[in-house]
Amino acid sequence: MKYQTPITNQIIEISPDSKEDQIIFAVETSCDETAAAVIRNGREILSNVVASQIDTHKKYGGVVPEVAARMHLESIVPVIEEATEKAGIDIKKDVTAFAATVGPGLVGALLVGLNAAKTLSLVHDKPFIGINHLNAHVCANYLESDFEPPFICMLVSGGHTQLIKVASYAEQTILGETLDDAVGEAYDKVARLLGLPYPGGPYLDKLAHEGDKKRFQFTKAKVSEYDFSFSGLKSAVLRVCQQFSPEDLPKADIAASFQKTVSEILLGKTLLAAENFGIKKIALAGGVAANSEIRRKFFEQENKGYEVHAPEFKFCTDNASMVASAAYFQSNTMQNLDVEVFSRVK
Ligand SMILES: Nc1ncnc2c1ncn2[C@@H]1O[C@H](COP(=O)(O)OP(=O)(O)OP(=O)(O)O)[C@@H](O)[C@H]1O
Ligand SMILES: [Mg+2]
Repeated sequence: MKYQTPITNQIIEISPDSKEDQIIFAVETSCDETAAAVIRNGREILSNVVASQIDTHKKYGGVVPEVAARMHLESIVPVIEEATEKAGIDIKKDVTAFAATVGPGLVGALLVGLNAAKTLSLVHDKPFIGINHLNAHVCANYLESDFEPPFICMLVSGGHTQLIKVASYAEQTILGETLDDAVGEAYDKVARLLGLPYPGGPYLDKLAHEGDKKRFQFTKAKVSEYDFSFSGLKSAVLRVCQQFSPEDLPKADIAASFQKTVSEILLGKTLLAAENFGIKKIALAGGVAANSEIRRKFFEQENKGYEVHAPEFKFCTDNASMVASAAYFQSNTMQNLDVEVFSRVK
C-alpha cells in the first residue's frame, strides 16, 4: 500500500514484499492501557511498552472514561520515550511510519494516542497510518510468529465478540458477532456475581480450575449460525447463584460450568465456519484469548488436523505491537491525517 509523507509528500510503499526493513512505531490508547511499540516487518518486536490503569479503575468496578483520558495524557510521552529507548532506534532516521488506533474505543482516550501519533508523523515527516482496534487484535497472531492467512479467527475481547474470516492479510470479513454482551463482558459480570475483583475474567479462569465443570448445565442460546448471545447465559448463572446463600455459593463449580459452556460455544462456531469455508486454520484473538480453558479446547483441535494459533498472553490484551502489525499488513488502514476517532463499529 502506498502512503504519503505529510510535509514533503513523498510516496512510501509499506508492504510485506518490500526488500527493505520496515519499522512501524505504533501507539494504542483505546481503553485503559497506554501503549507504544516498535515493530520490524510486522512481526518482530523491538519494543513493547504498556502502562496499565487497571489498579485505578478497579476501585470503581469498571473503566471511568474521563479518568482514563486524563491518565493517558500523563503517560503517553513517557511511554513513547520508553518504547523508543528500548528499541534502540533513532526515531527520526529509522521509523518508516507512525500508526495509532482510531477506534472503536473511548473517544477521549483515543484522541490522546491518535494526536500523539499524528504529531510524530508531522514532526518527522513520515506517513501516518490509522488502525481499527479490532483488526489489530486479529493481527496480534502475527507477532513473534510465522502464522499466515487464510484462517478463521474467534475474536473475544472486553467489548466485542466476532467470528472473522481472514482470507488474506488485507481482508478480514466479519461472519457473525454477539447480539448482546461480549464474551469479556459476560466473564466480568459473572465474576462480579461470584464476588471476584475487576476485571473478573482472569480471576474466574483461575477459580474454575478448582471446580466441577459438569455440576451445572447451562443451555446455549439459539441464534443464527455465526452469531452469539451471552445475556441469557449470564441470567442463568444469576438464577443458580440465587439458589444458594452467599456463604454456601459453590463459586468454583459455577465458574467451571460457565467457562465450559462459553468455550464450547466459541469452538463450535469457529469449527463450523472453518468447515463451511474449507479452511484448516483457526485462531483466537482479544483479551479473553488468554483464557486457559478456551485455549486448551482450541489447541486440542491440532489432533484433528487443524493448525491452531493464539497470540502470546501479553499480546491478547491491549497493546501497541498489534497496531503496528496491522499497519504493516495493511489491515483496513486509514492514512489521512484528517481521520477522526470513532467510538463504535459503524
Ligand atoms: N484468562 C482470562 N479469562 C477470561 N477473560 C479474560 C482473561 N484475561 C483477560 N480476560 C478478559 O479480557 C477482557 C479485556 O480484553 P481486551 O483488553 O481485549 O478488551 P478491551 O480492549 O477492553 O475491549 P475491546 O478490544 O473490545 O475494545 C476483560 O473482559 C477481561 O476480563
Ligand atoms: Mg482491546
